[in-house]
Amino acid sequence: MSPRPPTSRPPWTATPKRRTMTESAAPPIGVGLLGFGGVGQSVYRTLAEQRDYYAARSGRAITVPRIAVRDRARSRTLSVDPGVLTDDALAIATDPALAVIVEVMGGVEPAITCIRAALEAGKHVVTANKEVMAIAGPELLELAYQRNVELLYEASVGGGIPIIAPLQRDLHANEVAAVQAIINGTTNFMLTAMAREGLTYEAALAEAQRRGYAEPDPTNDVDGTDAAYKLAILATLAFHVTVRPDDVYREGITQLTPKDFTYARRLGYIVRLVATARRAAGGLDVRVHPTLLPEDDPLAKVDGVLNAIAVEGNLIGRALFEGPGAGPAPTTSAVIADLLDIVRGIASGRRPRRPRPPSVEACIQPVGSLRMQYYLRALVRDRPGVLAEIGSALADNNISIASLLQMEADAVAGTAEIAITTHHAREADCDRFLAQAARLDAVVEQGIRLRIEDPWG
Ligand code: HSE
Repeated sequence: MSPRPPTSRPPWTATPKRRTMTESAAPPIGVGLLGFGGVGQSVYRTLAEQRDYYAARSGRAITVPRIAVRDRARSRTLSVDPGVLTDDALAIATDPALAVIVEVMGGVEPAITCIRAALEAGKHVVTANKEVMAIAGPELLELAYQRNVELLYEASVGGGIPIIAPLQRDLHANEVAAVQAIINGTTNFMLTAMAREGLTYEAALAEAQRRGYAEPDPTNDVDGTDAAYKLAILATLAFHVTVRPDDVYREGITQLTPKDFTYARRLGYIVRLVATARRAAGGLDVRVHPTLLPEDDPLAKVDGVLNAIAVEGNLIGRALFEGPGAGPAPTTSAVIADLLDIVRGIASGRRPRRPRPPSVEACIQPVGSLRMQYYLRALVRDRPGVLAEIGSALADNNISIASLLQMEADAVAGTAEIAITTHHAREADCDRFLAQAARLDAVVEQGIRLRIEDPWG
């Protein structure tokens, strides 16, 4: 159900005594909309329904005279004058009659080309596009700065959750130590279903697709690419250095099995795809991978398609931003907030000068220098001395066992499944142990290695 929109004059307000903004003589501000899918239609409909309310809030009415679509002939639920639609997005981006471009097409091109053209033409831009902002954001923001126009992108990370503006403004007095987030709703829905209902990866994906939470091709979500894009955007803002998507170490969720959720639960953990950016001795530690979180950790309690972003700063301590990370209505909330911010600046003639984007590339700490606790699952021979062999290989690599579970012994096959958690160890040592363990006669099949974090501990 769509949220009930605010009325233009809510019942708790008295009759206005002075002239309202909607009566202002100034002409409406022309906005070009690039993209008319679920989000584009939601933005268009909301701007039309709330025209007076937004005019009163921002100081000028907004009009959307041109919309770029991929296919003009396609039937749509929302009826729009056909003269408004065009398949020439670049023509809208450079149309002198428009002051602001809202890009909700998604994808890398032609979005980057259109945004660049709009900025070069002196237009303000609002985008919901995480790929664009992760890949080309630093260059586009610099262009916007040079042209003295706005490029706002609140909707690009966390959908309706305010996180870009808080990092740019409200948390600016802090030195940020870490950002830790669940920023992919598709995988969070799947991991929640796998934990609660014991679903396999394949069954959880089918359920996510049935509900419209996963694309027909889910690769970018399940392999961590989507979360890596978003983390690059957040880390760039939080640490004032340019973090590129390729800087982010990435592992997806495809290797997880229902038993990992069972074992994790017995050990007191919940599995989540966590995106982490943290200051470390060797540089910036930026990574996305399935992570075991203590079950009482706030991020472990973020279920289903929800997103959450925890920011740790020297003044604020830890702050958690949680909410709907995708979907037309939450994305519309963020897109229109950015648009109103721009319109308010134009209407008042007092447009804020945004900080210049960082010009320094991040120095990234290699993942091999991490010191983490690990969860290791393997199928081993069920015979005397096996644990001693494995324990000895761990000791050879400076890894100390914290706990051990032995499960699912198969008397016929003579095998047993073990799940080990370790004390803190170096990732490079853990890699060496895994290579050594693969050669041990005791190990029938190596299962999985997951990292354990206790971010709030
Ligand atoms: N597939 C993305 C998600 C959509 O699940 O979060 C928003 O980027």
